[in-house]
Amino acid sequence: MRFFTLLAVLLDVVTASPGPGAYQYKTKTPDYNNLTVAIVRQEPAKWPMPLMNKNWTGVEFDLNATVAKGVHLIEHAASNGANLVVFPELWFPGYPKGMADNVTIAPWLNSYIENSLVVGSTQWNTLVGAATKNQVYVLLGFSHKDEGALYMAQALVSPDGTQFVRHKLRPSPGERGLWSDGRIEDLKVIATPYGRWGILECWEHFHPAMTFNTQAQAETLHLASWPYTPDEATKSAAYWESLEINLAAARIYAVNAQTPLVFASVGNARFLDSQGLDLTVVKASTSTTQQPLIYQSFNTTGLAATLPYTTDGEQSWGVLQEMLTGFPLYIPKVLGSFVHHNVFPIKGLLASI
Ligand SMILES: *[C@@H]1O[C@H](CO)[C@@H](O)[C@H](O)[C@H]1NC(C)=O
Ligand SMILES: *[C@@H]1O[C@H](CO)[C@@H](O)[C@H](O)[C@H]1NC(C)=O
Ligand SMILES: *[C@@H]1O[C@H](CO)[C@@H](O)[C@H](O)[C@H]1NC(C)=O
Ligand SMILES: *[C@@H]1O[C@H](CO)[C@@H](O)[C@H](O)[C@H]1NC(C)=O
Ligand SMILES: *[C@@H]1O[C@H](CO)[C@@H](O)[C@H](O)[C@H]1NC(C)=O
Repeated sequence: MRFFTLLAVLLDVVTASPGPGAYQYKTKTPDYNNLTVAIVRQEPAKWPMPLMNKNWTGVEFDLNATVAKGVHLIEHAASNGANLVVFPELWFPGYPKGMADNVTIAPWLNSYIENSLVVGSTQWNTLVGAATKNQVYVLLGFSHKDEGALYMAQALVSPDGTQFVRHKLRPSPGERGLWSDGRIEDLKVIATPYGRWGILECWEHFHPAMTFNTQAQAETLHLASWPYTPDEATKSAAYWESLEINLAAARIYAVNAQTPLVFASVGNARFLDSQGLDLTVVKASTSTTQQPLIYQSFNTTGLAATLPYTTDGEQSWGVLQEMLTGFPLYIPKVLGSFVHHNVFPIKGLLASI
């Protein structure tokens, strides 16, 4: 059997003609014209539910259990035909909702640091193995323990095991103080056989310094991770965790980038088209046990050939010059604390509790 497969491969190399009557091994070649994306909307292991429950009394972070749950969801999505599985922000080991700052998290800080994911660790290799074994792309959202600090990270793992890791450039107020700042070089759009994928998380979708540079790189699909979103008009939700505000940013992003968008979060999950309008939607009121994942297929024919930029777009070098030229002369030229690069060493965090 193996011999004949090998022969078929050799024959194909020799004749170099795909032709009809494809050999059996060819059926395993992915159809890059049809991308099926799965969004994980189920909560991490041991995460307080229902969605707006922020009572962590007696609850422990559990990276190992969350990795096992994540692997199961990746397998489940792949068995349903997914080529890409997208996780919400900080899904590993869970967004510390209600205490995502360096003060209120104090009693859980040791546990949170202990359960943050290290690239190259056994848990990491397990997740990479789930991508390669199931031949899917996986976008992870995780608290990254790296060189003595924590980062809000996203990683795109390819079916061949290749990894691209990025850090949220500026964690939001409160978050910034626990997690350190990322690097501007990490605003990269990744070329895949399905097209060009841009990756950002949560409030990055509100900052022109992050959206402009990503959109300038010609995305054909945007992958966006939020931690969780309740349904509209949930009275206990703050504006920054509400669906209304975060979905507004996502819709505007899709319109500006002229790309479909994957809106991943625990609870609400949905796909937007390139006009910012809804494709498949699942609301937070739907049980995450009954529906842990949602799916959407995209016709990606020809998208891999998309050029990495357009000089005529709304996010071009010319527009950037216009912004510089138009910047009011009377505003002092100072960097300010938003742009300042902050690193909060774990040692310092632990010393402060
Ligand atoms: C939080 O959960 C603990 C343990 O289940 C319970 O004793 C406590 O009453 C809860 N607190 C609130 C504010 O609901
Ligand atoms: C988690 O898994 C790792 C790797 O398998 C293992 O070394 C570690 O002991 C586990 N941690 C806990 C708390 O079980
Ligand atoms: C794309 O792939 C999905 C998942 O395998 C499948 O359900 C769908 O029919 C495919 N679409 C086309 C146009 O082939
Ligand atoms: C905690 O956060 C505050 C504001 O977010 C910051 O000023 C402070 O330096 C942080 N503390 C530590 C130990 O990082
Ligand atoms: C996919 O898009 C291509 C290019 O626009 C088009 O030619 C083709 O008919 C589409 N395929 C399907 C199944 O809609």
